[in-house]
Amino acid sequence: MNICVVGTGYVGLVTGACFAEFGNPVCCVDKDASKVDALNRGEIPIYEPGLEDVVQRNAKAGRLTFSTDLPTAIRDSLVVFIAVGTPQDENGRADLSFVREVAKAVAENLDSYKVVVTKSTVPAGTGKMIREIIEEHQSEEHPFSVASNPEFLREGSALEDFMRPNRVVLGTEDEASAAILRDLYRPLYLIETPIVVTNVVTAELIKYASNAFLATKISFINEIADLCEPLGADVHVVARAMGLDRRIGPKFLHPGPGYGGSCFPKDTRAAVEIGKDHDIDLRIVRAVIEVNDVRVTRMLEKIRIAVGGTLEGKTLALLGLTFKPNTDDLRESPAMAILDGLLAGGARVQAYDPVAIPLVRDEARDGVTYCADEYEAAQGTDGLVLATEWNQFRGLDFARLKDSMSHPLIVDLRNIYEPSRMRERGFDYTGVGR
Ligand code: UGA
Repeated sequence: MNICVVGTGYVGLVTGACFAEFGNPVCCVDKDASKVDALNRGEIPIYEPGLEDVVQRNAKAGRLTFSTDLPTAIRDSLVVFIAVGTPQDENGRADLSFVREVAKAVAENLDSYKVVVTKSTVPAGTGKMIREIIEEHQSEEHPFSVASNPEFLREGSALEDFMRPNRVVLGTEDEASAAILRDLYRPLYLIETPIVVTNVVTAELIKYASNAFLATKISFINEIADLCEPLGADVHVVARAMGLDRRIGPKFLHPGPGYGGSCFPKDTRAAVEIGKDHDIDLRIVRAVIEVNDVRVTRMLEKIRIAVGGTLEGKTLALLGLTFKPNTDDLRESPAMAILDGLLAGGARVQAYDPVAIPLVRDEARDGVTYCADEYEAAQGTDGLVLATEWNQFRGLDFARLKDSMSHPLIVDLRNIYEPSRMRERGFDYTGVGR
């Protein structure tokens, strides 16, 4: 089955590479020629474990190609996946101009029956909009189907999420396209992946409801963590015991500096806007956003208090800059907001991140030194702030750290260390909600 994936961002690249891995001929299209050239040389523009290997293997086998020629790719395909960006516009809504552009290109190159599928996270109703655009601009009369197949990939484990998903959601408007899409996901039948087949608007909403619910779990546990602090309770034990109730589940109950990245912040805000469009006030989602918005300020307060009441004149080590480990994504990263907050408060910062330093080094920021590793970052500091839980920070050499720091203080915003053990090791230790 010939497939065209439009947009070689995170979602498009993973989708294209994985469908090729399933044995389909896939053409990934992007209008950025330099990106396409790089991909044709086997260079992957994002940091995603395992992706380079899958891309190179399938490109070599001739199943995966990269091109800037959208008309040809559309004409050659039965299924066109739209995986272009849907950035947030100035009102918090998803900006659909790239989606519209692709829909128009499909209309102009519709030379046979095709299924046009949205993979990007798009507001409920976008499928209908795509149908209208294609009908209006169609150069030849051919039947087509519009479908929604939202992705639930996590950055850092996207290949695993694609190959072993909890579920696949197919929103379709007719049996023909449902059969085609089911067929595409046939390799997952072997692992008995549940496939939810529904209509287009329901599929679109499933994506927002899922992300908003996960964000709700995070903001919820963050508030409970805040409450644990004055009470002297331990949020980890609270979360663990809550999670043992199967109706609640143990995942996404880790407190920290708040959720970030390219999905949760944007999708929760877009969900509220979609609600507004239909006179439905999504109060819970609004509260989730509000709790998350004050998270960084609260973390900065925690750090200020830990270092003795003022950031002014302090030198702090900051470990981790990305919004979570195993990605180079800095979008809406709480760690970056903390970096800027520390600098604004008058501290000097010695920062280290395993992958993101080259991405920030050239940004104008006074008072920060980017370091080669954790130990260089800790050298001579008044305290160390752990902002992103990269695996390599879980096994630090504490004796070495203690010797090199001016003051043995750790503010662990991801709760990766055990407070009692850290105190035994001679550190002043502050976690979140413990
Ligand atoms: C998220 C969803 O998990 C995916 O299912 C979805 O497909 C994707 O958004 C998307 O819409 O494209 P992602 O943004 O890659 O994936 O990252 P997550 O692993 O979900 O983490 C999001 C944020 O929540 C991170 O900042 C993370 O540190 C934070 N988080 C997560 C917590 O603070 N506590 C938790 O318990 C879990």
